[in-house]
Amino acid sequence: MKNYIVHDAWKVIEKGFFAQNNKISESLCSIGNGKMGQRANFEEQYTGATLRGSYVAGLYYPDKTRVGWWKNGYPEYFAKVLNATNWIGIDVQVNGEILDLAKWKVIDFYRELDMQKGLLSRSFIAENGKGEQVKVSSRRFLSMRESDAGAIEYSVTALNFDGNLRIEPYLDGDVFNEDANYDEKFWTEISKERSAAKNTGLLLMETKKTQFRLATAMQIDLLKNGQNHNIELKVISRDKYVSNVYQTEIQKGDTVTVFKYVVNAASIHFATETMVEDAKLILDRIHKKGFEILLAEHIEKWKEIWDDADVIIEGDVAAQQGIRFNIFQLYQTYTGEDERLNIGPKGFTGEKYGGVTYWDTEAYCLPFYLKTTDAQVARNLLIYRYKHLQKAIENAEKLGFKNGAALYPMVTINGEECHNEWEITFEEIHRNGAIAHAIFKYINYTGDEYYLAEYGLEVLIAISRFWKQRVNWSEDKQKYVMLGVTGPNEYENNVNNNWYTNTVAKWTLQYTLDGMEKVKSKHPELFKSILKKVKFNQFEDTDEAGAWFDIIDNMYFPVDEVRNVFLQQDGFLDKIIEPVTALPVNERPINQNWSWDRILRSCYIKQADVLQGLYFLENQYDMDTIRRNFDFYEPITVHESSLSPCVHSILAARLGYKEKAYELYLRTSRLDLDDYNNDTEDGCHITSMAGTWMSVVEGFAGLRNEGDTLFLRPFLPDQWEAFSFTIQFRSARLKLSIQHKTITIENISKVNVSLVLFDEKHIIPAGETLKQNIEGSVIAL
Ligand code: BGC
Repeated sequence: MKNYIVHDAWKVIEKGFFAQNNKISESLCSIGNGKMGQRANFEEQYTGATLRGSYVAGLYYPDKTRVGWWKNGYPEYFAKVLNATNWIGIDVQVNGEILDLAKWKVIDFYRELDMQKGLLSRSFIAENGKGEQVKVSSRRFLSMRESDAGAIEYSVTALNFDGNLRIEPYLDGDVFNEDANYDEKFWTEISKERSAAKNTGLLLMETKKTQFRLATAMQIDLLKNGQNHNIELKVISRDKYVSNVYQTEIQKGDTVTVFKYVVNAASIHFATETMVEDAKLILDRIHKKGFEILLAEHIEKWKEIWDDADVIIEGDVAAQQGIRFNIFQLYQTYTGEDERLNIGPKGFTGEKYGGVTYWDTEAYCLPFYLKTTDAQVARNLLIYRYKHLQKAIENAEKLGFKNGAALYPMVTINGEECHNEWEITFEEIHRNGAIAHAIFKYINYTGDEYYLAEYGLEVLIAISRFWKQRVNWSEDKQKYVMLGVTGPNEYENNVNNNWYTNTVAKWTLQYTLDGMEKVKSKHPELFKSILKKVKFNQFEDTDEAGAWFDIIDNMYFPVDEVRNVFLQQDGFLDKIIEPVTALPVNERPINQNWSWDRILRSCYIKQADVLQGLYFLENQYDMDTIRRNFDFYEPITVHESSLSPCVHSILAARLGYKEKAYELYLRTSRLDLDDYNNDTEDGCHITSMAGTWMSVVEGFAGLRNEGDTLFLRPFLPDQWEAFSFTIQFRSARLKLSIQHKTITIENISKVNVSLVLFDEKHIIPAGETLKQNIEGSVIAL
């Protein structure tokens, strides 16, 4: 746990240079625009601890799998999003000495990420061994409007000396991934261009094996004391590198400012034959606009996002900063315009998890995008999986399943499984359930029933086929059982009858059957063609629906009759059940202190498992059931996945455990800002950030929906004075504000909205406001 980030409602601020925390700050202050991201590395050279990272979405490398012991069925490679051409670099030399904050004395260091503007800035004074001082200030952003472009303003002032200043803005494609399995470099240079006359440079790089191309183009403007400046200029190029070098004599008080405009044109967005020319055209356009106009456009775009997605918390700056940080990072990572892209657990802020897609997207991120923006964004996330359906069928075939059964990968970028730990790759199959449930969530929230006919049903049928083949009939139990699985709680492996997995399997079968009925009655022609396409009842199984009904009716679920709770898996009660509070503090987190076998034998739970099921399917269980299970499982949960506290916080809020809900909320909301788990240097926990937002909206505000009716059951945490947010619901937009005594719901849209506040039904006409006091009586409508 660290506490060096200054609390501020809109900014992430580091005052003073904390070299030991540099990699953390680099993660925290990362910038991105959905298409690419950049850690908050310094522009100038830095020989201290750093993880240099510029990542371009969708460009990956199939890094050959590395395991101690090969198991049949392991994927051949782990696809990882690549560290790409370093576009930010600007080397500085003062009288021949390289500016390097690891070697120079650093005075008045200040790094700031302005989340309202999406702008990273930095300033400091640095002093070399001769006492020569320079003042440096920089600003940079990756444009939300010009989504292939970024810009940097970098100024150097001579504070107390006259002499020579050498500035070298460059593009460097000779980069590596820290997480490369065999220390291999993934890029080769195809070509480069440079022009001293135009102050431009361009590097065209290509990935090995996958042959993705990236054309990075830069243009430099140089000013001395605010005036355009022509100075001696030299172009340097070596393999994978191109730079323009500026040398000038400066006097005490002089300031030299570099504007570096950059375009990263990736071959997934541009045709290979034209991408270099395209990059140059965009570069020309952004250069003509200039830094301030580009920045103003970028801020305008962020304003639109904030208007839709902001959560305002009054009376608690730390909480305000926390929630905005989460929203900001999510929108930097994924903007939802391109259905080929998705959300890696670390986004563009680090390399852990390879930038690839997990079940996190469907289970955690989808509800955030559903409620904060246009439905098309969540739809694109679903279509991503639809497009991977054939690969998911092939993935299942590799493991011996057949007849159109699909097992979606635990991690993927192109649809193929990349994960190579047997207990997860082969056994953590509950991911299929989250993908099916996401279809339900989307349709339930948006009302876009046609999605089912257009895409959803095919996916559901393929997943249902998988469940059908994955269960087996137990003569002993006279029930269907599911053996050898890992549930969401990865602190148990190879268990039988994980309650959550059995539950989502049964749920999927039922939802698929219901979906088939709906599509059949509403779109009979389409229904016929879907059945034909998936060869329904045409494989060995001639009554697929009948087989699914049989499983639904006869699925086995472990329960504890005495406590009246669902059991996480068979045999769970053989464990010694002791609360987390009995654990010595110095043994936590247990994943860093205990041997794996000890973790597996213990009762301790990494993240919501039974409770994940109760969260997903809350409307199927009464409050007493949820309470009994929460009271049993939460005290033995160590929350060592960042995905854990939010689900517990939401359930706690639902149960009226307000303090618990708030305590768990705090663990997610500032997880990265305070480096709670000691791992922010690897990157931020992007996917769990959506869970933080859900803790506010689904937890504290108690928002649910069934069909076109919204339900709200808000409360205000004691530590806050008020909180408010806006949601998108079908064609309506509502602004909710929860104060100590009143709840205000403004219908800021053109349609009437019907909602149930606590237990009372209201219709709020378009443009009207409902104001109610917390005891329930309506003040005004
Ligand atoms: C969690 C998984 C999650 C993955 C990526 C793991 O620690 O247990 O549920 O999908 O991290 O966030």
